[in-house]
Amino acid sequence: MQVLRYPLLVLLLLSLPLLSFSSDSDLLLKKIKPALQGNATIANAQLSTWNLSTPLCQWRGLQWATATGAPLSCDSASTRSNLSLNSDTSLQLTSIQLPASGLQGYIPSDIGDFSSLQSIYLAVNSLHGSIPLELGNSPSLSEIDLGSNSFNGSLPPSIWNLCNQLVSVRFHGNRLSGSLPDPAGPNHTCDSLKVLDFGENKLEGGFPLFITKFTGLQELDLSANRFTGSVPEALAEMKSLQKLNLSSNNFTGKLPAEFANSKFGADSFEGNTPSLCGAPLKKCGSGSGLSPGLIAGIVIGLMAGGVVLASVSITLFQRRKKIKNKRIDEEEIELEEGDQNGEGKLIVFQGGEHLTLEEVLNATGQVMEKSSYGTVYKAKLSDGGNIALRLLREGSSKEPEECTPLVRELARARHENLVPLRAFYQGKRGEKLLVYDYFPHKSLFDILHESTTGRSLLNWPRRHKIALGVARGLSHLHTGHDTPITHGDVRSKNVLIDELFIPRLADYGIGQLMVSAVADELVSASRADGYKAPELNKMKRSNPRTDVYSFGILLLELLMGKKPGEGKSGGFDLPALVKVAVLEETTIEIFDPEVLKGIRSPTEDGLVQALKLGMGCCAPVATVRPDMAEVVRQLEENRPRNRSNLYSPADIRSGAATPY
Ligand SMILES: *[C@@H]1O[C@H](CO)[C@@H](O)[C@H](O)[C@H]1NC(C)=O
Ligand SMILES: *[C@@H]1O[C@H](CO)[C@@H](O)[C@H](O)[C@H]1NC(C)=O
Ligand SMILES: *[C@@H]1O[C@H](CO)[C@@H](O)[C@H](O)[C@H]1NC(C)=O
Ligand SMILES: *[C@@H]1O[C@H](CO)[C@@H](O)[C@H](O)[C@H]1NC(C)=O
Ligand SMILES: *[C@@H]1O[C@H](CO)[C@@H](O)[C@H](O)[C@H]1NC(C)=O
Ligand SMILES: *[C@@H]1O[C@H](CO)[C@@H](O)[C@H](O)[C@H]1NC(C)=O
Ligand SMILES: *[C@@H]1O[C@H](CO)[C@@H](O)[C@H](O)[C@H]1NC(C)=O
Repeated sequence: MQVLRYPLLVLLLLSLPLLSFSSDSDLLLKKIKPALQGNATIANAQLSTWNLSTPLCQWRGLQWATATGAPLSCDSASTRSNLSLNSDTSLQLTSIQLPASGLQGYIPSDIGDFSSLQSIYLAVNSLHGSIPLELGNSPSLSEIDLGSNSFNGSLPPSIWNLCNQLVSVRFHGNRLSGSLPDPAGPNHTCDSLKVLDFGENKLEGGFPLFITKFTGLQELDLSANRFTGSVPEALAEMKSLQKLNLSSNNFTGKLPAEFANSKFGADSFEGNTPSLCGAPLKKCGSGSGLSPGLIAGIVIGLMAGGVVLASVSITLFQRRKKIKNKRIDEEEIELEEGDQNGEGKLIVFQGGEHLTLEEVLNATGQVMEKSSYGTVYKAKLSDGGNIALRLLREGSSKEPEECTPLVRELARARHENLVPLRAFYQGKRGEKLLVYDYFPHKSLFDILHESTTGRSLLNWPRRHKIALGVARGLSHLHTGHDTPITHGDVRSKNVLIDELFIPRLADYGIGQLMVSAVADELVSASRADGYKAPELNKMKRSNPRTDVYSFGILLLELLMGKKPGEGKSGGFDLPALVKVAVLEETTIEIFDPEVLKGIRSPTEDGLVQALKLGMGCCAPVATVRPDMAEVVRQLEENRPRNRSNLYSPADIRSGAATPY
């Protein structure tokens, strides 16, 4: 028997329970009914017909077969009222069909004990829990539809035990997670299988390649999951496939060329990462679609508007305030203030409780930085304290309904290595102010490239400390919240360094607040600065992987002491320099001489590992880059040995309290 070749199957067969029910109806009553019913307080109308005082033919949603395998015919009045069928041990359950029946329970493991059960249709109920492993023990099961329920957990691999008999498998619209399990044997063809529908779940991992071996498959729906990686050639070669839906996943790369002439349109593939390309989707390698002239127009327009508005926003408002709304929970404190004239409103986040609308709008500002979409001010409060204000010009950011929830997400980010967002002001005309803590210290860019003495202050232990801090901050953005926050603009200008060389990342998530024209422009305009991942030439939105790329450049920048970017901006293609150096075996020469001071062995001090890590982060193919958690781990593992020169003597007191 082919079956015994697979250890999984052997295990499953051994674990088959001893049959302890006298008949299928007994099993149905004692095990299946209470489980499907769940602990719902009101008895389910369909399920309550499954009882001994009701003739078997009137039990709803079930089909039976006689000992010969013929369907039990319930046509005649005598069969319909025959109570003794209820415990007829020769009758076998063949189908359970209770779609949209208000079931609130779960599927018990006993489901695998019906020897003749062929189909289960329980779609559109409120069933939850996991799909029991024992489902794969059902010797006759061929059609399963458990769509639109709340099943979670992963799909048990035992499902493929049924490979030779399965006809359709539908789990659309549940919460199944993890990757799809491979069949135990490598060449399962599941010849009779026609439909596989796992759409709208939370499945992840690469394209489940084993599916392409299912020779008779006509319909495949993997839409709206979290699948990643490329779409395999073998899928395009599946002759039987009539319907295909891979939309709304995170597939990347070039679609197999065969799809250009297939029956599948763009709607089979849309909603994946922007890097998924090739017919029937957009051509690979096409640009952003904005002409340089148009971009310049947008930039100039925004700059003009930004400056004019700035002078209006700061110091001119004087309105009475009124506390509208107060909300406190352990994670966030949020006060909403609006002035009575409805001019605008201030939302205060944790740590910004001292700020009022009046204070913020009356603060006297000093321009620190201007950009296409707004201006950053250092602003002095009446109590003498300082805040940093980032003004987003009217029209540059999304509508309040869309923007405010995003800002709230950003405000939840609290980490030693992140500049905290303390408040958010929304003006009547659409102008917005993001209020941050003000840090008097310089950006990493300034220290590395603009100051004559700065670079020499940055010995390797300090640079390592900065790299690790930035990595931790970024990792927190990526994984510290329900919704990952993409920084979108990791660069040395956005890393503030204090006197203890603790780095703080500023400006995270700003791009997400912008209307798409401005967001696109941010990506295009800063490409020249050398931090942009290559895939951003094709796609427009940053994601955690493009952050990793930018971090890689930042790490190389720290190690080499050189500005990233293009030649004309005075910068260098840092990864290319490293590649050349490695090929020419002059690797040691690419390190900033300041970094090598006091270093006995570049390997034992973690320099070489950091260089490798930087290059790994800059991998042209996004999927092979490490994630930030892994970057943190590697930096922690490869620290400089001598860290006594981390702090200047004056720093030691507070430095000792800083976890590093
Ligand atoms: C029964 O249902 C209630 C609410 O629907 C739930 O809170 C409770 O945990 C459930 N009990 C069991 C044993 O599942
Ligand atoms: C048995 O089923 C009948 C309908 O067929 C229903 O009226 C009755 O309430 C059920 N009895 C129990 C105990 O659920
Ligand atoms: C009721 O079913 C039993 C068991 O299948 C059978 O022996 C009996 O003849 C049936 N009675 C009627 C009236 O059909
Ligand atoms: C599935 O959901 C239940 C709540 O319905 C939860 O207790 C359980 O942890 C979840 N299991 C998995 C694997 O997510
Ligand atoms: C699986 O199929 C491939 C190609 O069809 C073949 O080369 C391979 O030997 C098969 N493996 C097994 C275990 O049958
Ligand atoms: C795709 O990946 C990104 C980043 O990893 C994530 O934010 C997004 O939710 C994913 N999309 C889907 C449909 O899973
Ligand atoms: C693909 O699936 C998505 C969501 O699951 C659905 O909205 C879309 O209409 C489907 N497209 C096709 C071509 O079936």
